[in-house]
Amino acid sequence: MTNTKRRIGLLTGGGDCPGLNAVIRAVVKVATEKHGFEVFGIEDALHGLVDLDYRSPNGNRWLTQADVRGILSKGGTILGTSNKSDPFSFVVRDADGTKRAVDVSDTVIANAKKLGLEGLISIGGDGSMRIAKRFLDKGLPMIGVPKTIDNDLGATDQTFGFDTAVGIAVEALDRLRDTAESHDRVMIVEVMGRDAGWIALHAGLAAGADAILIPEIPYRLEPLAKMIEERGARGQKYSIVVVSEGAKPLGGEASVVAAQLGGMPRLLGAGQRVADGLSSLLDADMRVTVLGHVQRGGTPTSFDRILGTRFGHAAAELAAAGKWGEMVALRDGRITSIPIAEAVRAPKLVDPHGELVEAARAVDVVFGDE
Ligand code: F6P
Repeated sequence: MTNTKRRIGLLTGGGDCPGLNAVIRAVVKVATEKHGFEVFGIEDALHGLVDLDYRSPNGNRWLTQADVRGILSKGGTILGTSNKSDPFSFVVRDADGTKRAVDVSDTVIANAKKLGLEGLISIGGDGSMRIAKRFLDKGLPMIGVPKTIDNDLGATDQTFGFDTAVGIAVEALDRLRDTAESHDRVMIVEVMGRDAGWIALHAGLAAGADAILIPEIPYRLEPLAKMIEERGARGQKYSIVVVSEGAKPLGGEASVVAAQLGGMPRLLGAGQRVADGLSSLLDADMRVTVLGHVQRGGTPTSFDRILGTRFGHAAAELAAAGKWGEMVALRDGRITSIPIAEAVRAPKLVDPHGELVEAARAVDVVFGDE
């Protein structure tokens, strides 16, 4: 008997973030229950379509209601993810152990056809949307769902995952303030965000940080040292400095760890660099905390669960209507969609002259450019 049901593929790509499971749940519910689709869950971004037998650890599977039961409040992604599985630059290992990148995009398209998939819903960040665009250009229908804790996708007012990441950073900053105050210390806290300072700015503002260093505003150390000294002279013997991982000194570059083949350069060391620089200007007891991947895990906030659900619902409806090539987005509080091609055009960065930065400066936050 031939299968008459419409079929779509579903994947999560790039770094994980809280709320991915909310999207998966909504897509599966709406696509299967309302529209009678079969939904093929692809493991570890597109790795599962490069190799249909790939298992790490579960393998691809047709997703049912049972698979998505109870996952709304769970961090991570039940499909697994990867930021090293770009089929246009897929890393393979030769018999002698040497690694090289090859283009296996035709294999992905052939496997999608073999499975009878009408198209794919890709939940991912800017990298995943760029890959989706390349597949669209090669004739594989795609729908995008924007995710990232970095909140740096231009086409949507907010990505899910960001709210949770900010909440985690704020909680950490509140805790660090207590111990900083007890020990009269300067706490330097590095947060994620890549080239965008959204997490640093939001978390720093919410936690009452004394300085916030973001990639969009290159910093000098002198204004920071001055602020710390002036606080000390007023009897405030501790300070909280939030450093975005992509922050750079005026005329300098971000702190980067060498890129691995098939991966992005890793940002690390921005906080330590600030501490090292300040130690030659100040006699202060300093500690550096790198929050790292703690910001990516754990249960999503209600905002991220709801946004993920709204995005998943909208993506399934787009697939049902055959509106491929679109990415769902949040604009002015409403869910809409825009062409993926438009979505990848420009990242969303903090406006150094925007209202948020202005508000922060008004409550005495130092950005290092004063
Ligand atoms: O894009 C999300 C993000 O968490 C960035 O903030 C960070 O720079 C990067 O991913 C870390 O990636 P990885 O998980 O590969 O270390």
